Amino acid sequence: MPRIAYVNGRYTSAAEACVHIEDRGYQFGDGVYEVCLVVDGAYWDEEGHLARLDRSLKALSIARPMSERALKTVMAALVRKNRLKTALVYIQVTRGVASRNHPFPEKKVAPSLVMTARAFNLEKSEQQAAAGVDVITAPDIRWGRVDIKTINLLPNVLAKQEAQKAGAAEAWLVKGDTVTEGASSNAWIVTRDGELVTHPLSNEILGGITRQAVIECAEALQMRIVERAFTTEEAVNAAEAFLTSATGLVMPVVRIDGKPIGEGKPGPVSRRLRNAYIDRWAVR
Ligand code: PDD
Repeated sequence: MPRIAYVNGRYTSAAEACVHIEDRGYQFGDGVYEVCLVVDGAYWDEEGHLARLDRSLKALSIARPMSERALKTVMAALVRKNRLKTALVYIQVTRGVASRNHPFPEKKVAPSLVMTARAFNLEKSEQQAAAGVDVITAPDIRWGRVDIKTINLLPNVLAKQEAQKAGAAEAWLVKGDTVTEGASSNAWIVTRDGELVTHPLSNEILGGITRQAVIECAEALQMRIVERAFTTEEAVNAAEAFLTSATGLVMPVVRIDGKPIGEGKPGPVSRRLRNAYIDRWAVR
């Protein structure tokens, strides 16, 4: 069955879908995005993702393409039209189409809205989580407002490519001597005293929706959480490490730059948090 995409008001074959060559997203990376997981019709943290989309749009003064309610309708229709049950929905909004000039267009232009959906295999993700993943470290060379979820992802792309080359699933980005976050996920450690540590919200990380949900799960499990920066050395010497994102959920990290974390296998805290996060949404 051909994949269906949503492009500016139309559901169309993904293979034939087109955007204008002067779309500002294409020419300047002048746009924002979200990725939201849907499992058996349940949209995980949908409210959070749509609220962050709104925040990103406001931060860049890009007009809202449609109401939140309408966005939810399109998301559901797209998943249905692609006959998917468990899927990742990608939403991208750019400032729109205008003759190439750096400042915002003088004349009001409509923002461009594109959505795609692709199958997500939760079982495969479970297998990956059972084995744990490797991460590498890479310098954080991104701009000063990575709290906005923009489509400008070149430093993330380059870091991820290095990770892939090294056989790792993610790159943890390092600024000074501290880990900010992953190229497409938030970074966490569990200290040997059992404290959960993740970088505090700031302009230096993306406020992950999964990160927030996992904080809530950890609180409910009465775990100790400290939002502070941690160093690469601390991470390597931690009892456990894991990452969080809409695509990885809670994913145990078992090696950093080839060095084993704890016993070199997924730890109990990461497992409990992954189960708690999945149980928030999935009917098992
Ligand atoms: N990435 N940090 C960065 C830089 C990210 O790109 C992401 C998500 C996260 C985690 O955010 P959330 O928990 O809301 O997914 C943190 C998505 C999945 C992506 O780019 O594909």
